[in-house]
Amino acid sequence: MSDIGLIGASTRVGAFVKILKEKFASTHRIAGIMDCDPGKMKGFCEVHDLQVPCFTDFDRFCQEVKPEIVLITTVDSTHADYVIQCLDRKISCIVEKPLCISHEQCRQIDAAVKRNPEVFAATSHNARYYPAFQEMKRLVSGGAIGKILRVEYTDMLDREHGTSYFRRWNSRRKYSNGLELHKSSHHFDRLNYLLDSYALEVTADGTLSRYGAKVPHKFEGVNCHSCAHKNECPEFFEYDKKMFQSEIYTPDMCIYSPDIDIEDNFTAAIRFANGVLGTYSLCAHTQYEGEIITVEGETGRLEMRKVYYRKAGEINSVHGDELIMDNSLKLFRFRGGVENIAIPKVSGSHGGADDQIITAFFSPERPADLPTIYDGMQAVLTGCAVVESIRQGRKVPVQLPGIG
Ligand SMILES: NC(=O)c1ccc[n+]([C@@H]2O[C@H](COP(=O)([O-])OP(=O)(O)OC[C@H]3O[C@@H](n4cnc5c(N)ncnc54)[C@H](O)[C@@H]3O)[C@@H](O)[C@H]2O)c1
Repeated sequence: MSDIGLIGASTRVGAFVKILKEKFASTHRIAGIMDCDPGKMKGFCEVHDLQVPCFTDFDRFCQEVKPEIVLITTVDSTHADYVIQCLDRKISCIVEKPLCISHEQCRQIDAAVKRNPEVFAATSHNARYYPAFQEMKRLVSGGAIGKILRVEYTDMLDREHGTSYFRRWNSRRKYSNGLELHKSSHHFDRLNYLLDSYALEVTADGTLSRYGAKVPHKFEGVNCHSCAHKNECPEFFEYDKKMFQSEIYTPDMCIYSPDIDIEDNFTAAIRFANGVLGTYSLCAHTQYEGEIITVEGETGRLEMRKVYYRKAGEINSVHGDELIMDNSLKLFRFRGGVENIAIPKVSGSHGGADDQIITAFFSPERPADLPTIYDGMQAVLTGCAVVESIRQGRKVPVQLPGIG
């Protein structure tokens, strides 16, 4: 039996717990949890029906739980410290994306990996495993559209989903370094994986246009549950009180807070090492949710669309499949018509991607193409370059000399 330690009693790691219980109960068990917030751990254990020891002290957690592998799903800015400490203790780690949030953290993780090359470590880039995207990868790798020339990636977070980031720690640069890392690291990893390459340089622009203190608004507070305007504010949000039994932090912070300091709308032009040119954009206040990826090759063009509308009043179906209005992968050829590519049907969170990646992580024979720590780093470095390019108003290189 392998003992798994959870670093972070996060909403995210719930998907791992569910799949581990359903599919790996005979080989793996959750042996303990570490988080800086006792109330969050209490709520987490109740929601997931876990009776395991909980720790706020990392050293004690390691000494008493002795995990073989840890799942690191804390706030983004804290990942690096835990990865490094675990590697140096020879504990295998699976780290949520983004792997970390800065160049300096990449350098420190790189040094820890080089000190401990025998220790398994991976980045949980589950978005790669979305079935339509896997089909796209299969076609590109198999030469179905010839040499790739250009990619376009449009990510749309509708007003409900987009707003959710601005109620939480994610909207503070010191914790996430922006959606360019927190959210887009998924997409930069997908592009690197799809093109079998990595981003070399980036030219970007971005704004904060719908959230934060500068946006015209009638009501403002610290968080919804303590707000004097809770009965009249159209942005009032009721958080999950069973999960967040915290005395420290609640995910209902005011979306007009002056502390919000990240972009909610940005675009980037990316040059990849293999010569492909790409455009990328993310907007966190769109009319409908989804993503559109197109890849232009010398002999064909692939278009993946996954877009869906939310029903009125619906707040919890961000990742459900029931409202999808277009979930397609199409192959176009010049004067050759359109081929609809069949997308395998899979179920579960994130369109089935979680089941795929978690099964790959915990299978007796791990597949060779799991997203590595260096894949995680490439995505982080691209996100950092986008942030820097927006700040400096010029083209910025992505790579860090000596890394990899
Ligand atoms: N791959 C995906 O699809 C996906 C989806 C959602 C979130 N995520 C990632 O998962 C992670 C968690 O996100 P979430 O939305 O579930 O967040 P969350 O707020 O639910 O959980 C974060 C946890 O980290 C804890 N924490 C903060 N600082 C800490 C520290 N120094 N030491 C120990 N614990 C600390 C908090 O108390 C909290 O319990 C993030 O890195 C996020 O990017 C990935």
